[in-house]
Amino acid sequence: MAFKLSAALLTLALAISSVSAAMMKRVACPGGKHTALNKACCVFFDLADELQANKFDSECAEDAHEALRLSFHDAIGFSHSGGSAAGTGADGSIMLFEATELLDPGNGGIGGAIDNLSPLLQTFDVSAGDLIQFAGAVAVSNCPGAPRLEFLAGRPNATHAAANGLVPKPEDNVNKIFARFADAGFTPNELVALLASHTVARSDTLIENRDAVPFDSTPFTFDTQVFLEVLLKGNETLPPATGEAPAQVPNPLAAQGEMRLQSDFAIAHNPETACLWQEMINNQNLMTSLFKAAMAKLSVTGQNVQKLIDCSEAVPIPKPAVGKPASFPAGTGPKLVQQSCPLPFPVLKTDPGAPTTIPECIDGSTNIDDCPS
Ligand SMILES: *[C@@H]1O[C@H](CO)[C@@H](O)[C@H](O)[C@H]1NC(C)=O
Ligand SMILES: *[C@@H]1O[C@H](CO)[C@@H](O)[C@H](O)[C@H]1NC(C)=O
Repeated sequence: MAFKLSAALLTLALAISSVSAAMMKRVACPGGKHTALNKACCVFFDLADELQANKFDSECAEDAHEALRLSFHDAIGFSHSGGSAAGTGADGSIMLFEATELLDPGNGGIGGAIDNLSPLLQTFDVSAGDLIQFAGAVAVSNCPGAPRLEFLAGRPNATHAAANGLVPKPEDNVNKIFARFADAGFTPNELVALLASHTVARSDTLIENRDAVPFDSTPFTFDTQVFLEVLLKGNETLPPATGEAPAQVPNPLAAQGEMRLQSDFAIAHNPETACLWQEMINNQNLMTSLFKAAMAKLSVTGQNVQKLIDCSEAVPIPKPAVGKPASFPAGTGPKLVQQSCPLPFPVLKTDPGAPTTIPECIDGSTNIDDCPS
């Protein structure tokens, strides 16, 4: 009896494995270089090669940062309350209707990423929405420690621009930001997860006469430093509960070249989000898994996922994490922590030595104008 049962199970197991082997059969892609589970994904293997070779240099530098940012700015053009007339989400509208969407003050500085990527629409048979989301996923794979993002293909081209005012701004009041994200379908905690992107982010527009001002001391690695550094005390007071605030708040690492967004600061201290923010500081796995989930959701905002094809296998495997836990940058330390979550603050090391200037180039040099391209 026992033997018969296990024989039956074995037969079943063989049947299942032959079914999955058939489903796993790969097709050769045109050009002979790649194979894919679904031939609709072939174009994305070629697109990944092109992005890595000629747009990102396989690096987590300026062009990759900007492409990741673009994936958010396209997708957030969606509103449950405004309906499809207000925007259809991750649909490529920011590229197809660039002139209109760049009028949104939240889209400041986004034109460079559009100019960098839009010529690819002439050489690859993909929609603008697929190009933008795929480029974001490839871009972040270059950042050591990043998760491998999901990529579903098949977004139709947008037919109209997203409404002006849907893109949140760093000077927006935190409740306004939460409301905007709720209207786009995201909880405050999902917003915190998306803000992990600020570990590889810099601004060209928020500080006059300065380009590539980083939001943390390690802008080329997908680590948790940003969650720590946003909590370090400058000489600021907490942002006002209502009304607009300046886009940036003073920062103890300003002399090293860093800036801190008012919105990051306000979200880090809001009772609704302060504890997840703090938990991210020494939990790389939590940060990457929540970021991956939130990006999967963001990247199909406004889309019918039943009609999309999973081409995640075309996203390059990310560079491994550098493996250094979050630490207080030299010249700072635990006494500078401004804590809003009532749970114990993680115990972290402090980097030894004198404060060091944050490099502007991925090779460690300090002048953005001299970065190797
Ligand atoms: C989307 O629009 C671009 C720009 O007009 C075009 O090159 C591309 O072929 C379109 N793609 C699809 C899938 O409609
Ligand atoms: C405090 O912040 C102001 C601007 O908000 C700045 O001018 C001043 O230098 C800062 N002081 C210190 C000690 O950092």
